[in-house]
Amino acid sequence: MSKFSPGISPELHEYLRAHSTQPDALLRDLAEETARRLPERFEMQIAPEQGTFLTLLTRLLDVRFAVEVGTFTGYSSICIARGLAPGGRLLCCDVSEEFTDVARRFWSKDGLDDRVELRLAPAVETLRALPAEPAIDLSFIDADKTGYVAYWEEIVPRTRQGGVILVDNVFSAGRVLQAEPEDEVVRAIQEFNEHALADSRVELVVLPIADGLTVARKL
Ligand SMILES: C[S@@+](CC[C@H](N)C(=O)[O-])C[C@H]1O[C@@H](n2cnc3c(N)ncnc32)[C@H](O)[C@@H]1O
Repeated sequence: MSKFSPGISPELHEYLRAHSTQPDALLRDLAEETARRLPERFEMQIAPEQGTFLTLLTRLLDVRFAVEVGTFTGYSSICIARGLAPGGRLLCCDVSEEFTDVARRFWSKDGLDDRVELRLAPAVETLRALPAEPAIDLSFIDADKTGYVAYWEEIVPRTRQGGVILVDNVFSAGRVLQAEPEDEVVRAIQEFNEHALADSRVELVVLPIADGLTVARKL
């Protein structure tokens, strides 16, 4: 998935990145290691400005319980975990031991072990096993796109009133505009965007940050 918002020129993108709080040395090391070890997967990592946004938003919302669907090598999880309120927790869902081994190492380096819990299983199983009560303050959905509607349907009822759900890659690199996409990932994103928009349990906005980020607030 692209890390660049289609329609924003490379120069303007450079400018907005340069005028946002910069990732620190640990996040830069993680990005560098991910690019070196997993060059063909590096695009899956969120953009640096998105990471800054995740930390900011988590701090603003005084988040005590967060859920991440799709952890990869840990960039977004670190950004969320750093913004948690004292005593706050982040539950990470992923299926890859290989990717999340890197994440675990960087959580330890950043002193986040007591705040982050990883469950290695299909995310829908992990989410279904959570208590039904609305206890989630913030979620970030960034895993397999064909699962987005299912993740949404597990997360929305478990989100407290005023809690926030963030969903990545809702532009599908601009391909959401295609009338009849052949790619099932694009079709899944289109279906998800319509599904979320029609959901009367939330209010939401689509932000043109990176590959498109939906920010929904539970009513
Ligand atoms: C786009 S990457 C996540 C990037 C991450 N948020 C970051 O900042 O680096 C998607 C992740 O979803 C995971 N994934 C794919 N299918 C999954 C599933 N069914 N359940 C849980 N995780 C899944 C992949 O293993 C991969 O690590």
